[in-house]
Amino acid sequence: MTSPEDLLDELRRRRTGDLPTHGGRTLAYVFDSGLDGVDALAAQAHALASSTNGLDPTAFPSMLRCENELVGEAAALLGGGAHTAGTVTSGGTESCLLAVLAAREARPDVPRPRMVLPDTAHPAFDKAAHYFGMEAVRVPVDPVTLAADPSAMAAALDDRTVLVVVSAPSYAHGVLDPVAPVAAAAAARGIRCHVDACIGGWVLPHLDAAPFDLSVPGVTSIAVDLHKYAYCPKGTSVLLHADAALRRPQYFASAAWPGYTMVNPTMQSTRSGGPVAAAWAVVRHLGREGYAELARAARRSTLALAEGVDATDGLRVLVAPDSTLLALTASDGGLDVFTLADEMLARGWYLQPQFGFGPSPANLHLTVTAALSGQEDALLADLRAAVDAARAAGPVVIDDGIAAVVAALDPDALTPEEFGGLLAAAGLGGGGGLPTRMAPVNALLALAPPRLRERLTAEFFGRLQQPVLPAEQD
Ligand SMILES: Cc1ncc(COP(=O)(O)O)c(C=O)c1O
Repeated sequence: MTSPEDLLDELRRRRTGDLPTHGGRTLAYVFDSGLDGVDALAAQAHALASSTNGLDPTAFPSMLRCENELVGEAAALLGGGAHTAGTVTSGGTESCLLAVLAAREARPDVPRPRMVLPDTAHPAFDKAAHYFGMEAVRVPVDPVTLAADPSAMAAALDDRTVLVVVSAPSYAHGVLDPVAPVAAAAAARGIRCHVDACIGGWVLPHLDAAPFDLSVPGVTSIAVDLHKYAYCPKGTSVLLHADAALRRPQYFASAAWPGYTMVNPTMQSTRSGGPVAAAWAVVRHLGREGYAELARAARRSTLALAEGVDATDGLRVLVAPDSTLLALTASDGGLDVFTLADEMLARGWYLQPQFGFGPSPANLHLTVTAALSGQEDALLADLRAAVDAARAAGPVVIDDGIAAVVAALDPDALTPEEFGGLLAAAGLGGGGGLPTRMAPVNALLALAPPRLRERLTAEFFGRLQQPVLPAEQD
């Protein structure tokens, strides 16, 4: 038997190869309040409840109570009323899936149901369409503001549309869609309108944002992730419906076997109480006022960064940020943002590369959290140095031969051999672990149309996600 100390040491050693999850310098994937004690509290609460099971709320009333309180807190924050009904899910994607599922299940009369959503909505909705046999109708956004275009969305609604989606805000650019006119157009046709506030829903109520929540007429559901800007550990989101009748079709129940009657409001059946208890503890601990200060701090940092980016030669903010997310891009052709991302990583900052898509050029995404407070000038100074270094390095040039290989690939017939050949041609086939500089990989992926990029990335992840047999383990 291996001692607990040795195992924990080994885990700590492995974690040193990860991006830092604390300190505010990883500007995607992670959310840090920057406050001492919050994570320790969450870990203790998680441990206290992780063995409970939400499968049967009568067996573990402690979990039910925490869940109902979290839903109540979210409803109070997001314009809910006496009739609001909700569920704690495992994360943003599950909340999106369930909003779509409920809309589909409520309309069994509609063959091949559709949902209408702006081009900037999160791909969790495409996943939902794929899983649930629906059609996702993407509508181009305003090319300048990158916000949903209400008239184009209204024009896309038809008799098969069961759901309209807007973002509050969009992940890629941090833009708040015009919720009210879209919700009104949906309501006029009796169509559900879901607000994806997964990333911004906990922050926006504390800023001076346009109305976006359940108080807007026509909004039938909204989701907010606790594991994002509520600074709770991964594994919790809240999906709210305007009333219990709207939530009802989200439940799956089966008594068609000899065991327990299975009733699930989520995709999961067994559900650990750990994330729920941890979220409950963090939300309570921070409190409304404590949290409002964290939201305002992240907003102040975002605005300071936006100003600093616009003042940096060669860079500009893609679109004015509505919340605490920022996208920056090159203001002239001489600067490659993917190389800039590598230069920032070398200086200890992770900014997330985003490929060009429609009116949105290649850019870097920043999810700004409260932990960044006070480090804005340091980030901007490193950004200026990184711009100089990226300019000096020049953009990655892809060899014509490799570009020709990419152009000839058929995403739907891509074989492992073809993929291996591409990796080898790009100098990435040695099996020596992950490349230290991602710009060459991103430049290559940028040549691929979205469908091919999906396939290439999935193939790459598939190569990473391989069993390590006992004999090879350390
Ligand atoms: C707007 C939005 N919706 C949905 C999601 C999906 O959330 P998750 O990654 O928790 O599944 C995200 C994630 O960033 C998001 O920003």
